Amino acid sequence: MVSCVFGVAALLFAMGNVLCEMGRGLAEKNESRALDKLQSHPYHGLSALAFGLARALFLGAFQAMGNLVVIGAQWGDEGKGKIVDILARDVDAVMRYQGGSNAGHTVINDRGTFVFHLIPSGILYRGTLCVIGNGVVVDPASLIEEMDHLQTQGVKIGRNFVVSQRAHLILPYHKAIDKASEQSKGSRRIGTTGRGIGPSYADKISRIGIRMGDLLNPKAFRTKLEENLVEVNWFVEKLYKMERFEVDKIFQQYMGYADRLKSHIVDTVMLVNKMIDGKKTVLFEGAQGTHLDVDFGTYPFVTSSSSTAGGASTGTGVGPTKIDGVLGIVKAYTTRVGSGPFPTELTDAVGEGLQARGKEFGSTTGRARRCGWFDGVVMRYATKVNGLTSLAVTKLDVLDGCKELKVCTGYRYQGKLYRDMPADLQALTDCEPVYKTFKGWSRATTGATTYKQLPAEAKRYLQYLEDLSECPIDMISTGSKRSETIILRSPLKTRPRAR
Ligand code: GDP
Ligand code: IMO
Ligand code: MG
Repeated sequence: MVSCVFGVAALLFAMGNVLCEMGRGLAEKNESRALDKLQSHPYHGLSALAFGLARALFLGAFQAMGNLVVIGAQWGDEGKGKIVDILARDVDAVMRYQGGSNAGHTVINDRGTFVFHLIPSGILYRGTLCVIGNGVVVDPASLIEEMDHLQTQGVKIGRNFVVSQRAHLILPYHKAIDKASEQSKGSRRIGTTGRGIGPSYADKISRIGIRMGDLLNPKAFRTKLEENLVEVNWFVEKLYKMERFEVDKIFQQYMGYADRLKSHIVDTVMLVNKMIDGKKTVLFEGAQGTHLDVDFGTYPFVTSSSSTAGGASTGTGVGPTKIDGVLGIVKAYTTRVGSGPFPTELTDAVGEGLQARGKEFGSTTGRARRCGWFDGVVMRYATKVNGLTSLAVTKLDVLDGCKELKVCTGYRYQGKLYRDMPADLQALTDCEPVYKTFKGWSRATTGATTYKQLPAEAKRYLQYLEDLSECPIDMISTGSKRSETIILRSPLKTRPRAR
């Protein structure tokens, strides 16, 4: 009897395996094809159900999931928080690898609205370890405020949250210098968030930074602070006519933060590597976006960290060979906060319409986000520099009701047509975008959860974005809530990178 049950189970398991491999083969064949092909992808209909069931029953526990980097493909605020929250359910750890509290990632679910600045967006799942990696710059005051606020919202923050000893601190003088430097730049200002990000990274690269680990060693912390303040005070008094910073005041303040945070400060490098070696799945949550990256963005109108996929390795200590995929998050249109070139920006009523419908106001500074059409040059560049394996297109619903839509396919500058992102800031500032026009759709896409539900015009628009981006679409977001999402394929399943 027992051997009979085992025999049947083994047979069913083998069938599940075969079914799954067939499905995977089909999916891989469709890899970089247009979206209409995805309708025959086994996510819809009866075959999908059988496939899903077989996989869930027999392979669910055995199927390898990849370690995935989630990246913003534009200038930030693409909806990374929402997508990370969805994917976090199926991973063991979510790790931030760069940036600081300049980020604002919004997650909306049945329990309310959560805005994360430093804490990874996976914290809403009890079993998920959330890690701040060495590449992040941490303002402890801002971190404690965020922890307190989340705790009032019923979120548990205990052993499920750790910060790297190697992450650099943001000190009060970093914030003051950030703001003073912006003010002195006048019209050339970057439009930073004023969170001290640039000055803290500058200290890191100058090898005078103070790290989270130093909070655990008061003597070392005080010595470093004293040494730094000699230069800082000379600089702020002479150049910015600001008041001096007092060693004692900062020391006391930061020792208070140390007391509160010490149980969370660990060596995250070995912790995360051991998880990966033990076949656990890690999701790397990018902040900002590709075009705010200090190397590949619209320099100098960028942030001060590596927000592209390469940053996930240097910002965590997880080698590139252990990362299996890179998901690019891209809005169905474009936004930007702060100064800098934005070729497809709309300064007219159409832009205002996108801003109003998309509620495009910053979650960190409350500033209005500049809005414009989807830019294929920006997107294709993101595919290349991040080695994207797939895309999640967000905020499709915001385009509902637009009579016509435009997509930028290239830039014209001084008689030359650019298909790829120019490094020259002047070219980006003065270029004329070349557009392809699409008919809008009259039926709402808001809240759609299957591809079939989308109007034909929306499908055509998405298919074009996919082709132009040279990267397959895995997810489509049709509203701010967790449930308002179309999942064509899980980005966590390993696949070859896009072209
Ligand atoms: P992030 O910084 O990339 O995480 O993005 P933000 O959270 O700063 O900004 C994205 C905003 O759009 C948030 O307010 C989200 O709640 C919202 N959002 C995300 N996806 C969608 C979507 O598909 N439709 C709509 N209408 N809003 C969305
Ligand atoms: P998330 O993670 C949008 C922009 C600022 C400014 C430039 C430099 O929510 O997508 P900084 O304070 O970093 O020195 O400012 O970068 N910026 C963002 N824009 N979303 C963000 O984060 C951003 N973080 C920084 O507006 O133009
Ligand atoms: Mg944001």
